[in-house]
Amino acid sequence: MRIHSVRVRNFKSLRDVHMRDIPNFAVLIGANGTGKSTFIDVFGFLRDCLSGNARTAVHKRAGFAQLVSRGREGEDIAIELKLDLAFADGRERRVTYLLEIGERDRRVVVKREQLRWTRGGGGKPFNFLDFAEGRGSAVEDRPDLQETALRREEVLLDAPEILALKALGQLKRFEAASQLRELIEGWQVSDFRIDKARMEPDAGPAEHLNEDGSNLALYAQFLHEEHPALFSDLLRRMADRVPGVAEVTPEDTGDGRIALRFRDAAFRKGFLARYVSDGTIKMFAYLALLSDPAPHPLLCIEEPENQLYPNLLPILAEEFAAYARRRRDHAQVFVTTHSPDFLAAVPLESIYWLRKHEGFSSIARGADDRQLRALVAEGDQPGWLWRQGLFRGADPA
Ligand SMILES: Nc1ncnc2c1ncn2[C@@H]1O[C@H](COP(=O)(O)OP(=O)(O)OP(=O)(O)O)[C@@H](O)[C@H]1O
Ligand SMILES: [Mg+2]
Repeated sequence: MRIHSVRVRNFKSLRDVHMRDIPNFAVLIGANGTGKSTFIDVFGFLRDCLSGNARTAVHKRAGFAQLVSRGREGEDIAIELKLDLAFADGRERRVTYLLEIGERDRRVVVKREQLRWTRGGGGKPFNFLDFAEGRGSAVEDRPDLQETALRREEVLLDAPEILALKALGQLKRFEAASQLRELIEGWQVSDFRIDKARMEPDAGPAEHLNEDGSNLALYAQFLHEEHPALFSDLLRRMADRVPGVAEVTPEDTGDGRIALRFRDAAFRKGFLARYVSDGTIKMFAYLALLSDPAPHPLLCIEEPENQLYPNLLPILAEEFAAYARRRRDHAQVFVTTHSPDFLAAVPLESIYWLRKHEGFSSIARGADDRQLRALVAEGDQPGWLWRQGLFRGADPA
């Protein structure tokens, strides 16, 4: 999967932004309140619309009146993604997914939902999924048939707030819908919390680190038992970064819970996670997350720099970029940061910066700025250029 562009309208401060030519690793910078977290939340919102429905996703964000851009009350929120999907016939297609959400009689509904792509050699994009307020039609793409011979099936969903992608994505014959549904369900929008990561959860399965980090001990146990090579590599990298951390072991507390014990090379017995430093836990959680044997198709991380030693940030940035390359069909990683150190190892093409003008956000791309391109070509480092104020408008006025 590779998202090429994201266009958002009327979603909080994102009244109309279009992020284009998105690479596998994208880093968002910008002053406080310029809309970085809001942009990341667009992905969380889509995922919530799919796991629940449009109404529950809107209510999780305090209701439609709070979510729609100020001054745009009465209009719909619109999100359009262009992305590449690999089809069973081996070909890759660039599909467009459009979702518009609004209110009808004060009830949140899906105003429009479309999934389209261009068949074969050019021509107009064809709507394979076309819905409005719970009604619409879907077409099974049969490469052996002419466009005019494709059969359109009328479908009535259970409710106007349900995504057709969710209902029809269960059916394998709607290949793009089912792929996209599966991908979005696998998106991870991290809301990592150190206090949660220190917890000693009840024993149970965990094949991924969850978004708040509360299953870190279980997930570490999974890596330790099922992927010992990955786990020892993770420990080696941990030891390189956090002085003294010789070993981390998941252990049974004796009452059905799993705890993490961090052993310092200087002592025989290790410390339980709740007694080790914030940065130690956080570094371990990131390294574990990045060791995931089945990387998420999309991973979003906010401000990874907090609590971490600045010199470690460029390495971490490289590891995020490497994560995106590890998945066979490619993954994407979005990071927000306030740290010039983090940017030291990030190519200009990956850097986007947000600005705010009269209450609304706009987005610019490092590679589109001629001066920045020239300076980086001469050997200047993006983090340093940012400090010098050369990302115009990125600094607070
Ligand atoms: N409905 C809305 N319409 C317009 N603006 C809104 C709406 N709801 C919230 N905002 C504003 O959107 C802004 C963007 O906030 P956001 O949290 O995305 O910023 P950020 O770039 O992540 O900042 P920080 O660096 O502090 O984390 C906030 O300043 C908030 O006041
Ligand atoms: Mg933020």
